[in-house]
Amino acid sequence: MLFNVIKGLHILAVIAWMAGLLYMPRLFTYHTRAVVGSDMDETFKTMEQKLLGIIMNPALFVVVILGGTLIYFDTTAILATPWMVVKLLGVAFLVFWHMFLARSRRRFAAGERVHSERFWRMTNELPFIAAIIIVLSVTTKWGV
Ligand code: HEM
Repeated sequence: MLFNVIKGLHILAVIAWMAGLLYMPRLFTYHTRAVVGSDMDETFKTMEQKLLGIIMNPALFVVVILGGTLIYFDTTAILATPWMVVKLLGVAFLVFWHMFLARSRRRFAAGERVHSERFWRMTNELPFIAAIIIVLSVTTKWGV
């Protein structure tokens, strides 16, 4: 019972984290067009800071803590299973992407525009592709 409650909370935290990972590059796409120092620039900076600080960072923390708790409670040597290895590789990519977005946010806040609008549009779907691989790995538990 407790395991299932934690699993539910884990999935809710994943939803919040994914929302941020998908929304932040969308904000960057429009932010790239805003003139540095303009009202629009300041509005995007505030939105990005709040999205990262209030939603994405806490959600990442909760996902990892509850995911680790699920592994701890699982008695089937879950870490050694092929689906779990693939899942954790997907999670490693999402964490890397989270860090990359956080660094990009700092650079936007400093008035830099390091990547083009096209770059943000083209990379927007990467976290979703990783999520498809992760979720199907867990729901099918293939290879066992
Ligand atoms: C460090 C990060 C993570 C760890 C350690 C972790 C670990 C786990 C574990 C041990 C379970 C229980 C598996 C079982 O049913 O026996 C689980 C369930 C689940 N995880 Fe994660 N997880 C992490 C991140 C994620 C992410 C990023 C996603 C999605 C993008 C995700 C999606 C899910 C889903 C959908 C389930 C429920 C699967 C089911 O009941 O069939 N997890 N996780």
